[in-house]
Amino acid sequence: MTFTLTIDGSVTEAKADERLVDLINRVGVKLPQVCYHPQLGPIQSCDTCMVEVDGKLVRACATKAASGMNVSTKSAKSVAAQGEAFDRILGNHMLYCTVCDNNNGNCTVHNTTKLMAVEHQKIPFKTKPYEVDNSNPFYRYDPDQCILCGRCVEACQNVEVNETLSIRWEDPHPRVLWDGGKPIGESSCVSCGHCINVCPCNALMEKSMVGKAGFFTALPKTALAGMIDIVKGVEPDTGYGAILKVSEAEAAMRESRIRRTKTVCTYCGVGCSFDVWTKDRQILKIEPQDGPTNGISTCIKGKFGWDFVNSSDRLTKPLIREGDKFREASWDEALGLVARRLAEIKAGNGPDSLAFISSSKCTNEESYLMQKLARAVIGTNNMDNCSRYCQAPATMGLFRTVGYGGDSGSIKDIENASLVIIIGSNTAEAHPVLATRVKRAHKLRGQKLIVSDLRKHEMAERADLFIHPKPGTDLVWISAITRYILDNGLANTSFLERWVNGLDEYKKSLEPFTMEFAAETCGLPIETLKLVAQMITEAKGVCVLWAMGVTQHSMGSDTSTAISNLLLVTGNYMRTGTGAYPLRGHNNVQGASDHGAMPNYLPGYQLVDDPEVRARFEAGWKVKLPSTKGLDNKEMIDSIHQGKLKAMYLFGEEISLVDSNKNFVEEGLSKLDFFVVQDIFFSDTCRFADVVLPASPSLEKEGTFTSTERRIQRLYQVLEPLDGSRPDWRIIQEIANRLGANWIFKHPSEIYAEIAALTPLFAGVTYERLEGYKSLQWPVAPDGTDEPLLYTKRFNFPDGKARLFPLTYSEPSDRVNAEFDLHLNNGRLLEHFHEGNLTYRSPGIREQTPDTFVEVSPALATERGIKTGAWVQLVSRYGKVRVRALVTDRVEGKELYMPMNSSESPVNRLTSSFTDKVTHTPAYKEASVRLLVLGENGDSPLPRGNPRFGHRTPQRGVEAERKWQRPDYRVPGSPMIFHATKRKPNRNGG
Ligand code: SF4
Ligand code: SF4
Ligand code: SF4
Ligand code: FES
Repeated sequence: MTFTLTIDGSVTEAKADERLVDLINRVGVKLPQVCYHPQLGPIQSCDTCMVEVDGKLVRACATKAASGMNVSTKSAKSVAAQGEAFDRILGNHMLYCTVCDNNNGNCTVHNTTKLMAVEHQKIPFKTKPYEVDNSNPFYRYDPDQCILCGRCVEACQNVEVNETLSIRWEDPHPRVLWDGGKPIGESSCVSCGHCINVCPCNALMEKSMVGKAGFFTALPKTALAGMIDIVKGVEPDTGYGAILKVSEAEAAMRESRIRRTKTVCTYCGVGCSFDVWTKDRQILKIEPQDGPTNGISTCIKGKFGWDFVNSSDRLTKPLIREGDKFREASWDEALGLVARRLAEIKAGNGPDSLAFISSSKCTNEESYLMQKLARAVIGTNNMDNCSRYCQAPATMGLFRTVGYGGDSGSIKDIENASLVIIIGSNTAEAHPVLATRVKRAHKLRGQKLIVSDLRKHEMAERADLFIHPKPGTDLVWISAITRYILDNGLANTSFLERWVNGLDEYKKSLEPFTMEFAAETCGLPIETLKLVAQMITEAKGVCVLWAMGVTQHSMGSDTSTAISNLLLVTGNYMRTGTGAYPLRGHNNVQGASDHGAMPNYLPGYQLVDDPEVRARFEAGWKVKLPSTKGLDNKEMIDSIHQGKLKAMYLFGEEISLVDSNKNFVEEGLSKLDFFVVQDIFFSDTCRFADVVLPASPSLEKEGTFTSTERRIQRLYQVLEPLDGSRPDWRIIQEIANRLGANWIFKHPSEIYAEIAALTPLFAGVTYERLEGYKSLQWPVAPDGTDEPLLYTKRFNFPDGKARLFPLTYSEPSDRVNAEFDLHLNNGRLLEHFHEGNLTYRSPGIREQTPDTFVEVSPALATERGIKTGAWVQLVSRYGKVRVRALVTDRVEGKELYMPMNSSESPVNRLTSSFTDKVTHTPAYKEASVRLLVLGENGDSPLPRGNPRFGHRTPQRGVEAERKWQRPDYRVPGSPMIFHATKRKPNRNGG
């Protein structure tokens, strides 16, 4: 719906629900608006956007356009109000732009001074009685420069929802507060960077920018102060106009040396995109703008975890094993050796004696080339990637029931759900930016949240209902509530009739899953199970999110299937706010599988044993292709032990640390005749290699990644490859060519053109359609139409109908007994990614989270006399590790939790070789240990500066109303005290 109104005398068309400020911006009228940020909504703290509407002053950011309105942005009243408001801001901020690291053309305070043609400020700048806070390793806060706009508070409270920041408007000299007044480094701040990303000036700034961005900003403090005094000294005579011109000339000079390049995060599967600011090889900052997934959001890793790129221990020379040592070699020699040995082993033992492992950190194009090398050049389907270690069971569950192995919708669809259920996922730490959207919907829009987990992590603490089933029993309670829903006439029968096959057989399979059986098996009260069923059936839309707490079990595929069955029975597919969301772990684990790095699928999940599919690829690649499924990761290790698999080529994958039962894997790797490892560092896995090839990380190459939302995004080259290293796709191509292929790809876009030509799922993907921040969510039709929400018209089976899949339950593996009496759970930690190869190279992250640990419950700690910091030994049926204890009520009773970020004490020394029966994903989460207290006490493995020791201060946002209630507040342009009632007061009083 549209309607008209008048802005500054011009009749203008407005959209329904449009904010006046957005409309004014859309039609190109210039209006000051310091605190407004479209992704934050109206904060109403700065008053600079005052306009006259039908004779009354209103804030344009907080006023909705209405039919027939007469809006004046330039009336004497509005201009006076805007001027007065901005004067108050300048009273809080010293304009020293020429020597300011924020003088980069995008400073809101600078630009507003210019827009309003301010020559002299009426309210003089006054310092605030606070010191600069430098206590966080990554950023600093300068209260003197803080204009109290509250954007940071809004971002922290209502976008990130970490609820660290507030402003106590009642204070004589308000400032931004961390945990109500703690140093940043002792607060609950998780260093996500949201606050810095929205700060309109230099009050909050990345330390990597300070003294680095400007030509004059690196001067010593005294010299800087002198320059600032000179600038201030001339202001009364020259006015700000002349001074701003000088600073703009300096800002323009910066353009020549600071580059801003778009990339996509290299860590988790959320798929955040942002600009990387660089000066030569220095990374100045990460600036998220309006990425399709993340908007202004980042987490600590995406925002600050990039030091590894310039780490001094990057590999820059190929290495060749000589006995127990490695020697440096030229690229020519190393590649020659790789090609010769692969060819020899193929000739001597056949193509299936070789195996290839692709990287879930590298690009789609690189996975495609790796599987093409395996299949078209060597002639084997022994090809896999690390989705085997995490997400293969979820993919299987969805293939069985709805037909596509990916999330059913986008993060926006999750936001639209009225109920979100999170099972076996520590979302706030493993998928931080995605978690923010759930936390926000829960906090601001009344979305309900159920969490099922062994640990009381942040999402569990926030949940309306937290359930803690016995380990490995999720399938039982999910199936029991599905049966209860069917038995009690609560199922969505019209949906089942129209869209779902297999109900009768499925119902029969549910017979054992009574409420009593579930209560007994899972240790959950029947009333709780009924409450879960009730919340699901009463919700307008349900999204289920799950991750490795489900998939890394011996019943991972079946539990994933049970989730999808439940969604089908309750009609929770085919519309926004519904669906299945297995959260992908690595940045490109979805893409690696999508692009054929699997033993049974060519790219786009086209079966290797389908003759039609093979014929298409054979014609495209001009070779004969192998037709039987190859070995997966687990089978590869078994096959080495059996003496059948002789050679392996692996890139960007830390198999020796992340595969389960490390001792068994290490033994296997050391038996290989020939092992090529390609990585950016000398990883743990490199220890077993014969040749190590130095590769380049994502910032040094182009390509595409596919996020958990099935979203394909381009990354651009931020830096030249470090001297001596090469992008993975170039290395793979070189090896293929030395083995007789004649590949001539000059750029990843050419590789994608080949993928699109052979793969219906990606038929319409082109680099042009992915330019800049554009993205596509597969499937992509030839005309470029994509599907952000799947199954809006049909399920992905020939008859368009979904399928209920009958299931049975079997007991978990590696169970506790008298000897191994404790259950060991394991997983990720916010600050580190996976084993920590990248994040440990960030000094700030290392400072906050230096090591792994084992979480011990208060009850067990009391029973065994364990204190935080005590060294303990964990012994499983497969190995042992020495680790420090952290006593916490995040875990209960005889359940332990160990983060996976350690190469010295890796949790996989303790895990078994049991796997999910269907996909061979290791049952990492099924491990039993005994614990020996070693009698040595150390420091806490988490320093006091770790945000887990902070105390959040939740409130509804900036709460500008409290500012308006100050006795000294007056609406600019009016003698009246302004009282407003729009938002509720905060929970902490004030
Ligand atoms: S958690 Fe810390 S970095 Fe993130 S928005 Fe809040 S104060 Fe800023
Ligand atoms: S620190 Fe916060 S309140 Fe201060 S200027 Fe920056 S965003 Fe605004
Ligand atoms: S690690 Fe994940 S959530 Fe964090 S910035 Fe990267 S993609 Fe986003
Ligand atoms: S932009 Fe409207 S009050 Fe700040």
